[in-house]
Amino acid sequence: MTETDPILHFEDVRYRWPGRASFGLNIPDLTLARSETVLLLGESGAGKSTLLSLICGTVLAESGRVLVAGQNIAALSPGRRDRFRAEQIGLIFQQFNLLPFASVQDNILLPLRFAPNRRKRVTDMPAEAKRLCIDLGLPQDVLSAKAGALSVGQQQRVAAARALIGTPPMIIADEPTSSLDAATQATFLELLFAQSRAHGTTLLMVSHDARLSSQFDRVIHMADIAKTDRERA
Ligand SMILES: Nc1ncnc2c1ncn2[C@@H]1O[C@H](COP(=O)(O)OP(=O)(O)OP(=O)(O)O)[C@@H](O)[C@H]1O
Ligand SMILES: [Mg+2]
Repeated sequence: MTETDPILHFEDVRYRWPGRASFGLNIPDLTLARSETVLLLGESGAGKSTLLSLICGTVLAESGRVLVAGQNIAALSPGRRDRFRAEQIGLIFQQFNLLPFASVQDNILLPLRFAPNRRKRVTDMPAEAKRLCIDLGLPQDVLSAKAGALSVGQQQRVAAARALIGTPPMIIADEPTSSLDAATQATFLELLFAQSRAHGTTLLMVSHDARLSSQFDRVIHMADIAKTDRERA
């Protein structure tokens, strides 16, 4: 595992959700370079979120290998895999997955607890949480509010701040702008791209909005990278 390894490499990966015989995902080959910004498009149910779960190691390939920064994530123990994910990947889930009863600040700082290298890059944690909130256009007093008390669009931006903090090498975002108005969406994307440029962060973003394509280095269509079992049959 070195700095020169691609940040992500799929080698003939196959996955099937337990009990869901009708859906099988096969990704023969997919590589993301460091600092690349990539938009992942595909119809609903095509397996985009499943692919992101495979990258994060929250589900493991049945066969083939998923390498993150050169590390085969299936080779790690569950505990080490959790810490590896926290260190390497800033994650914005489709459903945000914030802790609703914890404050916004605690939600944003949470990944740093599991990722010592990300933590080292943040000298003043509350100040950095505040800076991210301001950059994302959230109200000044939001840090002490309970995350569950925010609007959906505000929660989406807190999830983004949690992904950005401590500049992980890769940011994965599952439809992160679905609840944002046009102006907020533009601000949000600019912040993701600025972090990518400044720190060489790889950005992999899922969206249904093909109009965003021109802003990314590369656009990937699920239909081009994945074979479904139905097509193989
Ligand atoms: N936790 C799960 N358990 C069982 N099956 C699942 C699970 N998550 C997804 N699936 C199934 O896997 C298939 C692909 O779903 P996935 O969520 O990856 O699609 P998607 O491309 O992200 O769709 P969308 O654009 O609607 O978010 C679907 O048939 C879905 O029912
Ligand atoms: Mg999805």
